[in-house]
Amino acid sequence: MPWTYIEDIGRHEGQEVTLKGWLYNKRSSGKLHFLQVRDGTGVVQCVVLKNDVSPEQFALADHVTQESSLIVSGKVRADSRAPGGFELNVSALQLLQLAQDYPITPKEHGVAFLLDHRHLWLRSSRQHAILRVRSAIIRACRDYFDGRGFTLIDAPIFTPAACEGTTTLFATDYFGEQAYLTQSGQLYGEAAALAFGKVYCFGPTFRAEKSKTRRHLTEFWMIEPEVAFLDLAGDMDLAEDFVEEVVQRTLRERRMELEALERDLSALDRVRKPFPRITYTEAIELLRGRNFPAEWGADFGGDEETIISNAFDRPVMIHRYPLECKAFYMKADPEDARVALCVDMLAPEGYGEIIGGGQREDDLSVLEHKIEVHQLPAEAFSWYLDLRRYGSVPHAGFGMGIERMVAWVCGLHHVRETIPFPRMLERLRP
Ligand code: 4AD
Ligand code: MG
Repeated sequence: MPWTYIEDIGRHEGQEVTLKGWLYNKRSSGKLHFLQVRDGTGVVQCVVLKNDVSPEQFALADHVTQESSLIVSGKVRADSRAPGGFELNVSALQLLQLAQDYPITPKEHGVAFLLDHRHLWLRSSRQHAILRVRSAIIRACRDYFDGRGFTLIDAPIFTPAACEGTTTLFATDYFGEQAYLTQSGQLYGEAAALAFGKVYCFGPTFRAEKSKTRRHLTEFWMIEPEVAFLDLAGDMDLAEDFVEEVVQRTLRERRMELEALERDLSALDRVRKPFPRITYTEAIELLRGRNFPAEWGADFGGDEETIISNAFDRPVMIHRYPLECKAFYMKADPEDARVALCVDMLAPEGYGEIIGGGQREDDLSVLEHKIEVHQLPAEAFSWYLDLRRYGSVPHAGFGMGIERMVAWVCGLHHVRETIPFPRMLERLRP
């Protein structure tokens, strides 16, 4: 009998198939056992009737435990009451391994317990749905850039210097020299953009975030496009088009999973261009208008972001933050030297910043001065300054955190469930 995945059994109605999977749940009533079997692509009810199988197999169906591994054969039958529309009438049942008492039961468990058992928690239907959405989002992100002439040029993980400030660096020994885990691939993306025009990198990035928040991981994945001859306005156009495409495609391809997560799909449906664009200064006025005491000059935290994003029904782009609160590579606005040509995109419904980016400083002497002001080691940046010595051009890009995107699209309160094995303050295991 052919081995079939549960997601495909609809194509085998009336035929005998073999499924390979694990026992998800079980109900019994004397002459009849209902085995819910999952195989990673779905869950199907397998009906074991006393007269259809051997006495040993019928006894096995009675005592098989949750998460035992099984090979089940039987005939596919359409049943409108079944969750996936089909059931299996079992003709043979084979046990691969009888699972011990499974720690995760259908009753409620605390988050700490579940995170300690993350290697098993991945099997639960909710986690399964979330990580299927993540996989679709990543594919949509890659396809977006691959389909528009961007070249994938990945950045190194071991780096000699900080990109996003020295307070969140993870240091590591590199054959006797101090190295850091990368905070962002951007600086290497800039080198690649001057070689290939339009590039992106996608990989894990690391920040020693010492506070516990629902939006911060210490290891997260970022996709970062970088484009030569692009200015801030063009960068915002790119970010807006990218987010619209990724959200709409995920909504089409993962509707079932999003429904299982009880996501309000109409909120995602509204994610259409154009997104509102406001300056930092206008955002300050918006905050004050809602009686939030906001001082011009400081970066926004989670509270400010929530108030601002709640004023809009789709993502909002805030541009031109004070130069002081942003990274050393930001270009000052030629029309107002106090602000940077940068942009943050905030997701709606209080999910916070999903994108940070902007136009890069392209003048050699200004950049040399900025590296000094930010007290960064000049030697580690000499290669980066070469990009301003040999054919410097205006260029811009941004970084989108995959986990923030998944949290927003799935409607999750915390980013810890958006990555297979989260790394946070106080969590290195499993
Ligand atoms: O705003 P950030 O720090 O920007 C950069 O790293 C730029 N160098 C990117 C670029 O222009 N190429 O980070 C970008 C995004 C944030 O908007 C957020 O989505 C995500 O990365 N992010 C985090 N996600 C999870 N946990 C953290 N600790 C994060 N820090 C940033
Ligand atoms: Mg940022």
